[in-house]
Amino acid sequence: MPNLPVFPNPPWPATAAVLSGRQHGYETGAVDGMALPLQVLKQLGCDILVQTNAAGSVRPDMPPQSLMLITDHLNLPQRSPLLGLPGSDRFVNMVDAYDPALKSRVYAWFLGPQFETPAEIRMAQRLGADAVGMSTVPETILARHLGLRVLALSFITNFGAGLSTEKLSHAHTLQQAQEGSARASALLADIIAQLPEDS
Ligand code: HPA
Repeated sequence: MPNLPVFPNPPWPATAAVLSGRQHGYETGAVDGMALPLQVLKQLGCDILVQTNAAGSVRPDMPPQSLMLITDHLNLPQRSPLLGLPGSDRFVNMVDAYDPALKSRVYAWFLGPQFETPAEIRMAQRLGADAVGMSTVPETILARHLGLRVLALSFITNFGAGLSTEKLSHAHTLQQAQEGSARASALLADIIAQLPEDS
């Protein structure tokens, strides 16, 4: 990762910076595409990363349009955005990578871009996942490496492959996300309003 200039005391009173998207591992094959944007946020003075994603549920009691607070993840592709970095701080502690919460909900990262097979969904269930998706995990690793606190929400757009008769497609994911966007935005606004003043 390139070294960026440090702004010790940002001269502006920003409370939140918003990114309108992310680079996914499946777009280029590289999983460190969000390293530079996250470094810039850090340099701007951010210390909490609030992430959102669309995900497929592997729990019958968590239907589409549910919102899930992520408390842990499964890095199934075993790819790391820190691979090749020098220094001992690359050995990031991933316990409580997502700020601790009452209920445990595990997000399993699949590299994509293809959706999972029904067998892969059954594997994710047996591994203890609650939802599956194609993002978030590399960003969480990068954010923890930078010392940012992480809060991540999954918006459930579908049941995982094989758990319903619904045909999975990117268009279906986008349509479900659009339908739930007002609720998700209201929740995010609430969450951001309740973050500590100095964060
Ligand atoms: N699998 C992977 N990624 C997803 C899904 C899914 O079922 N739904 C939304 N993003």
